[in-house]
Amino acid sequence: KGEELPQPNESFQELLQSLPIRKRITKELLYLYDGFWIDESCLEVVIDFQQNFQPQDTDIILVTAPKSGTTWLKSLVFTITRRSQYTISDKNHPLLTTNPHGLVPFVEYVNPHNHVGTPRLFATHLSYTLLPESIKTSKCKIIYLCRNPRDTFVSMWHFEHKIMSKLDPSWQFPSPKECLEQFCEGVSHFGPFWEQILQYWKLSNERPEKVLFLKYEELKGDIIAQCKKMADFMNCSFSSEEENDGVIKDIAKFCSFEHLSNLEVNKQTEQRSVPQLDNGIFFRKGEIGDWKNLITTSMAEKLDQFVEQKLQGSGLKL
Ligand code: A3P
Repeated sequence: KGEELPQPNESFQELLQSLPIRKRITKELLYLYDGFWIDESCLEVVIDFQQNFQPQDTDIILVTAPKSGTTWLKSLVFTITRRSQYTISDKNHPLLTTNPHGLVPFVEYVNPHNHVGTPRLFATHLSYTLLPESIKTSKCKIIYLCRNPRDTFVSMWHFEHKIMSKLDPSWQFPSPKECLEQFCEGVSHFGPFWEQILQYWKLSNERPEKVLFLKYEELKGDIIAQCKKMADFMNCSFSSEEENDGVIKDIAKFCSFEHLSNLEVNKQTEQRSVPQLDNGIFFRKGEIGDWKNLITTSMAEKLDQFVEQKLQGSGLKL
């Protein structure tokens, strides 16, 4: 009685002070929250999400590690689930004027969330253990997309380099070698990256109706088959008529790197769908194997050995 409850902000400050901290060589401070490294700016929103998110059974949650194809996955899932409302030839298709991140919000960056249509689509980089209990117990579905660690790392290096050289042009951005060392220590946004992959991989085997596990390279390899798989999983399978009419092919083309990256809204503009990031930054090359242009074969082999060791016994190959 008469005791003042701590304000949410105060308890958040207390929490921050209790967490292990690491400064990345790219300068940001990350906090180790329940086993994963999270940026301070996201952490408060993450905690709010954990405590207050009310899922609906029809919700679809897209999960990725940063730079593993989130933008592509968002555009595909949006287009597949909204295809009765917006056909590909519709001049008003939202993807023509809005970046995929503006249509499928990240739960850790935006609060409150905007929704465009049904089913509700959300995205996150959070590991399974950090998702709210409400998501785990509801019937909502999770699509997880991962990417070969060599290309993911290289994509991240370019992404961070671009951001930092704009903020501080005189700063010498750390070398790929130094950054790779920290990546393999697990100190990356939402990392350790292998822990996140393993959590969703295991779950996709145990509960295939809950988690669909996809790979960037498999999307590149056979996008039609992967779109069908996604649609079946989301209970909105393509009919044989749609298939014969080329609907899946059209969706794949519509969401391709070539098409999306050439839209005015996705060019290097000042438009933003994720706080502080220009829409254009999410489109670079969209290729498999671009690691060759940044890291040496011996660095890549070391990374492979490291990943293999982490994934040992799981049955997963990346
Ligand atoms: P690169 O840097 O290798 O080009 P995320 O969306 O998770 O931030 O990942 C970004 C990576 O996905 C970048 O990889 C980007 O070019 C690529 N990408 C973006 N849109 C894509 C698309 N429609 N198809 C294939 N790759 C895409």
